[in-house]
Amino acid sequence: MNIRHIEPEDCKAILEVASNWWGSNYSSDMFSKWYIQHFRDTCLLAEENGRMIGFIMGFLSQSKSDEAYIRIVMIDSVYLGKGVGRALYEEFFKCVGVKGRNVVRCVTAPRKKDSVAFHTRMGFVIEPQKQEFEGLPVCVDYDGRDGVRVVFKKVL
Ligand SMILES: CC(C)(COP(=O)(O)OP(=O)(O)OC[C@H]1O[C@@H](n2cnc3c(N)ncnc32)[C@H](O)[C@@H]1OP(=O)(O)O)[C@@H](O)C(=O)NCCC(=O)NCCS
Repeated sequence: MNIRHIEPEDCKAILEVASNWWGSNYSSDMFSKWYIQHFRDTCLLAEENGRMIGFIMGFLSQSKSDEAYIRIVMIDSVYLGKGVGRALYEEFFKCVGVKGRNVVRCVTAPRKKDSVAFHTRMGFVIEPQKQEFEGLPVCVDYDGRDGVRVVFKKVL
Protein backbone atom coordinates (compact mmCIF):
# COMPACT_ATOMS: atom_id res chain seq x y z
CA MET A 1 0.00 0.00 0.00
CA ASN A 2 1.21 3.47 -0.89
CA ILE A 3 -0.04 6.63 0.83
CA ARG A 4 0.33 10.01 -0.86
CA HIS A 5 -1.25 13.44 -0.83
CA ILE A 6 -4.39 13.91 -2.90
CA GLU A 7 -3.82 16.04 -6.00
CA PRO A 8 -6.46 18.20 -7.72
CA GLU A 9 -6.46 15.72 -10.62
CA ASP A 10 -7.68 12.96 -8.24
CA CYS A 11 -10.98 14.73 -7.53
CA LYS A 12 -12.91 13.20 -10.40
CA ALA A 13 -11.91 9.67 -9.40
CA ILE A 14 -12.77 10.36 -5.75
CA LEU A 15 -16.18 11.66 -6.73
CA GLU A 16 -16.77 8.51 -8.79
CA VAL A 17 -15.82 6.01 -6.07
CA ALA A 18 -17.29 7.87 -3.09
CA SER A 19 -20.91 6.95 -3.79
CA ASN A 20 -19.99 3.31 -4.47
CA TRP A 21 -18.05 3.01 -1.24
CA TRP A 22 -20.58 4.97 0.80
CA GLY A 23 -23.55 2.97 -0.50
CA SER A 24 -25.62 5.98 -1.53
CA ASN A 25 -25.20 9.23 -3.41
CA TYR A 26 -22.34 11.03 -1.75
CA SER A 27 -20.82 14.28 -2.77
CA SER A 28 -18.94 17.00 -0.97
CA ASP A 29 -17.36 20.36 -1.70
CA MET A 30 -14.19 18.71 -0.44
CA PHE A 31 -14.04 16.63 -3.63
CA SER A 32 -13.41 19.84 -5.54
CA LYS A 33 -10.09 20.85 -7.06
CA TRP A 34 -10.20 24.15 -5.20
CA TYR A 35 -10.41 22.32 -1.87
CA ILE A 36 -7.32 20.24 -2.63
CA GLN A 37 -5.47 23.29 -3.88
CA HIS A 38 -5.91 24.87 -0.44
CA PHE A 39 -5.96 21.82 1.87
CA ARG A 40 -3.63 19.33 0.13
CA ASP A 41 -1.41 19.00 3.22
CA THR A 42 -4.22 17.25 5.13
CA CYS A 43 -5.76 15.19 2.32
CA LEU A 44 -4.33 11.70 1.76
CA LEU A 45 -5.02 8.81 -0.53
CA ALA A 46 -4.13 5.11 -0.17
CA GLU A 47 -3.38 3.10 -3.29
CA GLU A 48 -2.55 -0.50 -4.06
CA ASN A 49 -1.08 -1.29 -7.45
CA GLY A 50 -2.08 2.18 -8.59
CA ARG A 51 -5.72 1.68 -7.58
CA MET A 52 -7.30 4.00 -5.01
CA ILE A 53 -8.42 2.00 -1.96
CA GLY A 54 -9.15 4.74 0.55
CA PHE A 55 -8.81 8.42 1.35
CA ILE A 56 -8.94 10.86 4.25
CA MET A 57 -9.71 14.58 4.07
CA GLY A 58 -9.33 17.09 6.84
CA PHE A 59 -7.90 20.46 7.68
CA LEU A 60 -5.88 22.43 10.20
CA SER A 61 -8.27 24.50 12.28
CA GLN A 62 -7.84 28.22 11.75
CA SER A 63 -9.75 29.05 14.92
CA LYS A 64 -8.11 26.51 17.25
CA SER A 65 -4.39 26.74 16.68
CA ASP A 66 -3.53 23.37 18.26
CA GLU A 67 -6.25 21.37 16.48
CA ALA A 68 -6.83 19.47 13.26
CA TYR A 69 -10.13 18.06 12.05
CA ILE A 70 -10.91 14.93 10.04
CA ARG A 71 -13.97 15.55 7.91
CA ILE A 72 -14.20 12.49 5.64
CA VAL A 73 -12.65 9.05 5.57
CA MET A 74 -13.70 6.29 3.22
CA ILE A 75 -12.22 2.86 2.52
CA ASP A 76 -13.06 0.57 -0.40
CA SER A 77 -15.32 -2.12 1.10
CA VAL A 78 -13.06 -4.84 -0.35
CA TYR A 79 -10.25 -3.51 1.87
CA LEU A 80 -12.15 -2.97 5.13
CA GLY A 81 -10.43 -4.39 8.18
CA LYS A 82 -7.05 -4.63 6.44
CA GLY A 83 -5.30 -1.71 8.10
CA VAL A 84 -5.98 0.95 5.45
CA GLY A 85 -7.90 3.18 7.87
CA ARG A 86 -5.15 2.90 10.48
CA ALA A 87 -2.46 3.71 7.91
CA LEU A 88 -4.35 6.79 6.66
CA TYR A 89 -5.04 8.06 10.19
CA GLU A 90 -1.44 7.53 11.32
CA GLU A 91 -0.15 9.45 8.29
CA PHE A 92 -2.69 12.20 8.96
CA PHE A 93 -1.49 12.39 12.58
CA LYS A 94 2.10 12.78 11.29
CA CYS A 95 1.11 15.49 8.77
CA VAL A 96 -0.73 17.59 11.35
CA GLY A 97 1.86 16.89 14.08
CA VAL A 98 4.64 18.49 12.04
CA LYS A 99 2.37 21.52 11.63
CA GLY A 100 2.24 21.86 15.43
CA ARG A 101 -1.22 20.37 16.01
CA ASN A 102 -1.59 18.06 19.00
CA VAL A 103 -5.36 17.56 19.08
CA VAL A 104 -7.40 15.83 16.38
CA ARG A 105 -11.18 15.92 16.35
CA CYS A 106 -13.75 14.16 14.21
CA VAL A 107 -17.34 12.95 14.47
CA THR A 108 -19.48 10.06 13.38
CA ALA A 109 -23.16 9.18 13.41
CA PRO A 110 -24.08 7.12 16.50
CA ARG A 111 -25.64 4.35 14.39
CA LYS A 112 -22.23 3.69 12.76
CA LYS A 113 -21.00 1.26 15.36
CA ASP A 114 -18.05 0.14 13.20
CA SER A 115 -16.84 3.71 12.96
CA VAL A 116 -17.22 4.19 16.72
CA ALA A 117 -15.23 0.98 17.35
CA PHE A 118 -12.55 2.02 14.84
CA HIS A 119 -12.08 5.49 16.33
CA THR A 120 -11.96 4.11 19.86
CA ARG A 121 -9.31 1.61 18.75
CA MET A 122 -7.36 4.46 17.13
CA GLY A 123 -7.12 6.16 20.52
CA PHE A 124 -9.92 8.71 20.25
CA VAL A 125 -12.05 9.37 23.32
CA ILE A 126 -15.74 10.17 23.07
CA GLU A 127 -16.44 13.63 24.42
CA PRO A 128 -19.09 13.73 27.17
CA GLN A 129 -22.44 15.24 26.16
CA LYS A 130 -25.75 16.03 27.85
CA GLN A 131 -27.67 13.52 25.72
CA GLU A 132 -27.28 9.85 24.82
CA PHE A 133 -28.31 7.73 21.86
CA GLU A 134 -28.19 3.94 22.25
CA GLY A 135 -25.84 4.36 25.19
CA LEU A 136 -23.44 6.73 23.43
CA PRO A 137 -22.99 10.39 24.39
CA VAL A 138 -24.20 12.46 21.43
CA CYS A 139 -24.12 16.08 20.48
CA VAL A 140 -27.58 17.02 19.22
CA ASP A 141 -27.71 19.43 16.28
CA TYR A 142 -23.92 19.20 15.95
CA ASP A 143 -23.94 20.82 12.53
CA GLY A 144 -26.89 23.13 12.92
CA ARG A 145 -28.78 20.90 10.48
CA ASP A 146 -30.20 18.39 12.98
CA GLY A 147 -27.13 16.15 12.78
CA VAL A 148 -26.72 14.00 15.89
CA ARG A 149 -23.05 13.06 16.26
CA VAL A 150 -20.63 11.21 18.49
CA VAL A 151 -17.75 13.66 18.97
CA PHE A 152 -14.22 12.24 19.15
CA LYS A 153 -11.03 13.80 20.41
CA LYS A 154 -7.48 12.46 20.30
CA VAL A 155 -4.47 14.07 21.87
CA LEU A 156 -1.39 13.20 19.79
C1 LIG B 1 -14.32 3.19 9.80
C2 LIG B 1 -13.31 2.81 8.72
C3 LIG B 1 -12.60 4.06 8.25
C4 LIG B 1 -12.28 1.83 9.30
O1 LIG B 1 -11.28 1.56 8.32
P1 LIG B 1 -10.58 0.11 8.18
O2 LIG B 1 -9.54 0.22 7.13
O3 LIG B 1 -11.59 -0.95 8.01
O4 LIG B 1 -9.91 -0.05 9.62
P2 LIG B 1 -8.51 -0.80 9.95
O5 LIG B 1 -8.52 -2.14 9.31
O6 LIG B 1 -7.36 0.08 9.63
O7 LIG B 1 -8.63 -0.96 11.52
C5 LIG B 1 -7.84 -0.19 12.45
C6 LIG B 1 -8.09 -0.73 13.83
O8 LIG B 1 -9.47 -0.53 14.18
C7 LIG B 1 -10.06 -1.78 14.52
N1 LIG B 1 -11.42 -1.82 13.97
C8 LIG B 1 -11.82 -1.44 12.74
N2 LIG B 1 -13.14 -1.67 12.59
C9 LIG B 1 -13.54 -2.23 13.77
C10 LIG B 1 -14.79 -2.72 14.24
N3 LIG B 1 -15.90 -2.68 13.47
N4 LIG B 1 -14.87 -3.22 15.50
C11 LIG B 1 -13.76 -3.27 16.29
N5 LIG B 1 -12.53 -2.83 15.88
C12 LIG B 1 -12.44 -2.33 14.64
C13 LIG B 1 -9.22 -2.84 13.84
O9 LIG B 1 -9.29 -4.07 14.52
C14 LIG B 1 -7.83 -2.23 13.90
O10 LIG B 1 -7.21 -2.48 15.13
P3 LIG B 1 -5.60 -2.78 15.20
O11 LIG B 1 -4.96 -1.99 14.07
O12 LIG B 1 -5.19 -2.27 16.53
O13 LIG B 1 -5.47 -4.23 15.00
C15 LIG B 1 -13.98 2.10 7.55
O14 LIG B 1 -14.78 1.06 8.09
C16 LIG B 1 -14.89 2.95 6.67
O15 LIG B 1 -14.42 3.57 5.72
N6 LIG B 1 -16.20 2.94 6.94
C17 LIG B 1 -17.18 3.67 6.09
C18 LIG B 1 -17.10 5.15 6.22
C19 LIG B 1 -17.15 5.63 7.64
O16 LIG B 1 -17.87 5.09 8.48
N7 LIG B 1 -16.35 6.64 7.93
C20 LIG B 1 -16.19 7.19 9.25
C21 LIG B 1 -17.24 8.16 9.63
S1 LIG B 1 -17.30 9.60 8.61
